[in-house]
Amino acid sequence: MLKLFRKLKGSPQPFNEKEISKEDILKGEIPNHIAIIMDGNGRWAKKRALPRIAGHHEGMKVVRKITKQANELGVKALTLYAFSTENWKRPKTEVDYLMKLPEEFLNTYLPELVKENVQVRIMGDKSKLPKHTFNAIEKAIKETKNNKGLVLNFALNYGSRTEIITAVQEIAKNVENGSLESNSIDETLFSSYLMTQSLRDPDLLIRTSGEIRLSNFMLWQLAYTEFWFTEVLWPDFNEQCLLQAIYTYQQRGRRFGGI
Ligand code: IPE
Ligand code: IPE
Ligand code: MG
Repeated sequence: MLKLFRKLKGSPQPFNEKEISKEDILKGEIPNHIAIIMDGNGRWAKKRALPRIAGHHEGMKVVRKITKQANELGVKALTLYAFSTENWKRPKTEVDYLMKLPEEFLNTYLPELVKENVQVRIMGDKSKLPKHTFNAIEKAIKETKNNKGLVLNFALNYGSRTEIITAVQEIAKNVENGSLESNSIDETLFSSYLMTQSLRDPDLLIRTSGEIRLSNFMLWQLAYTEFWFTEVLWPDFNEQCLLQAIYTYQQRGRRFGGI
């Protein structure tokens, strides 16, 4: 009945009625790479009559929680959409706050990430980031570059269309200067020009807050990814939500065009 109600309400992804445990998940295949569109911070704050930035701050704590759990489950890479190339359209005060968050996050949690063997990376156009944001990230990348645990990849000032255009420009330049032959351009070569480079394509994409769209996120890399959408707003996302997403992933039959 509950399931039917959710269906009628148009809930994008009904939760399994039973609570999923870590042990349940560890019996199945753990997705190698999980990508998350962390959405709904503003609405979370609005519901509480708080300024939007309060939602972003709360969302930052969830990043820590989910990184820790993904690492414990043996996920190899976690890509988190933190700021899109389109998010500059927001009011300056909100953008300024969002650009301070990576610093606050890393000032607070970098020692823990180092201890947990997490390797921090970033993908996006770094040239447009404020100096203070860039420096904090560079420091984290440097301090964690030899870590062998989870790759925590922040998509910051990231837009998939810009990423693809930049790759095309680079490839064209190399063909022009003779270092690349046009007939050697294939999917593997093209992928190597993208910002994800050595990362495998995501196995599982999660988007919170009930929006069913990609918002310019990893358009090439998500070609065969399993999608999982939830109404839960990012600041309310928790370990159980991640377990639910992975559990659903484990029930899916991936065919990659085969039978
Ligand atoms: C996601 O939450 C965080 C960023 C896009 C930076 P939003 O800020 O988009 O929250 P909503 O969608 O307005 O609720
Ligand atoms: C996508 O969320 C970007 C991030 C989560 C960083 P948005 O809130 O910007 O997406 P739209 O505008 O609803 O598509
Ligand atoms: Mg949003």
